[in-house]
Amino acid sequence: MFTGRHLLTDHVEVERKIASGGYKWTPLAPEVIPAFVAEHDLGPFPVMQEKLREVVELGGFGYHLGAEAFAEAFSGWWSRRHGWDADPALVVPNTSVLQGVWASVEAFTNLGDAVVLPTPVYFPFHDIGPTTGRRVVEWQLVRDSEGWHHDLDDLELLLVQDPGIRLLLLCHPHNPTGKVLTPAQLTRIVELAIEHDVIIASDEIHADFTYPGNKHVPTATIPGAAPVTVTLTSGIKTFAIGGLRASVAAFADERLLARFNQIPTNLLGGQNRLGSLAAVVGWNHGDDWVDELVALFDRHRHHLLDRLANELPDIRVHMPESTFLAWLDLSSYEPGDRPGSWLRNRTNVLGKDGPLFGSGGEGHVRLTFGTSTAMLDQILDRLVAGLGGSGNR
Ligand SMILES: Cc1ncc(COP(=O)(O)O)c(C=O)c1O
Repeated sequence: MFTGRHLLTDHVEVERKIASGGYKWTPLAPEVIPAFVAEHDLGPFPVMQEKLREVVELGGFGYHLGAEAFAEAFSGWWSRRHGWDADPALVVPNTSVLQGVWASVEAFTNLGDAVVLPTPVYFPFHDIGPTTGRRVVEWQLVRDSEGWHHDLDDLELLLVQDPGIRLLLLCHPHNPTGKVLTPAQLTRIVELAIEHDVIIASDEIHADFTYPGNKHVPTATIPGAAPVTVTLTSGIKTFAIGGLRASVAAFADERLLARFNQIPTNLLGGQNRLGSLAAVVGWNHGDDWVDELVALFDRHRHHLLDRLANELPDIRVHMPESTFLAWLDLSSYEPGDRPGSWLRNRTNVLGKDGPLFGSGGEGHVRLTFGTSTAMLDQILDRLVAGLGGSGNR
C-alpha cells in the first residue's frame, strides 16, 4: 500500500534537472536561473516514479485501456480536494488542456463567433483568434491597490454589446495573477452565460495550488452551471508532468457532452500510457505529498512578497491567492516592451514577458516561485543585486 507520506524534498538538484532534458532547464545559458515556465521543480512524486519505472522495465508500451481508471481517479481527487463529485462517465480523457480549449472552440462556436478571454491571461489563449477564425473579445481584469479583480459589470457589458459571443474561456484560478473567483462571482458568471447563450470553458489546471484564505470552487458545482460548463484540467501542474500528456475535459451534463462529442474523436488524440498512469497514481496516492507541496509554496509566496516589500519596494506585486506564479509589475523601472529580457540582462533570472499575456501585461514579468526555498532565495538575491538601488535603473 502506498502512503506517499513525507516524501517531499525541498531541494532542486540542478545537474539532474539539466540532465533530464526538460524544457525549463535546458535552453538557457548555465548562469541563468529559469523561472519562466509554469512548472514547479519539486517533482517527481516518488510513488509515481516507482510505478512508471515498473512499466518501463516491463516494456509495457503497447496500446492501453486506461481511460476508465483515469476517469475514476480524476473523479476521486476532485471529490476529495475540491468537493466536486464528477461523474466518471462524463469525463473525456484527452492529451492536453490546450487541446481541450481548442476542441471547445470547435464544438461550441462557429466561424465568426466570439470568445471572451480574461486578460492578461495565459499567453497561448491569444492564439485562438489567429488560428480558429473566431473573434477574441478581451475582458480586462482591473487592478486597484488591493490587487487584480474580475469586474462582472464589464463582462455583462461585453455580452450585451456583442451578441456573437458564444464561449467564455475562464482561467480559474487565474494565470498569471493567481486570482481565485469566489462562489458569488462564479454564480453571476453562470447567470450571465445562461442569459446570453454562452458556454463556459473553465480551465482549472492550477486549482490544487489554492492557498489558505481562499478556496477553489469548481465552476461546474455552481447551481445551474452544469448545462453550460466544460471543465478543462489535468494533474500536470500539480505533479510537474507536463511532458507526459494526459488531461481531462469533464462535463456535468450529458447534453453538453453530446455536443462536445460531435467534433471528430480523433481531434482529441489519445492519452499517452505513461501520462495516464502517472495521473492515476498521483490522484490516487498523492494527497499527503501535495499537502506538503502546497504548504511549502504557501510559505514561498509570503517569503517572496516579504522580501520584495522590504528589499525592492519599487516592484509592485500582489499576493497570489493560487498558482505558484508571481506577477511582477516592473513599470517603475521602465523595462521596455520585453520586460523579461530586460530582467534577465540585469539579474540572470529569466521570467516570462508580461506583454505576451495581452492587455494589462505591459511592464510585467511572470516569475515562477514553484521551486526550493534555497533556489527562491537565490532568485531573490539576484533580483536585489541586479535591481536594488537607484544606481541600477
Ligand atoms: C492556465 C493554463 N492552461 C493550460 C496550460 C497548459 O496545459 P497543457 O500543457 O496540458 O496544454 C497551462 C500551462 O502553463 C496553464 O497555465
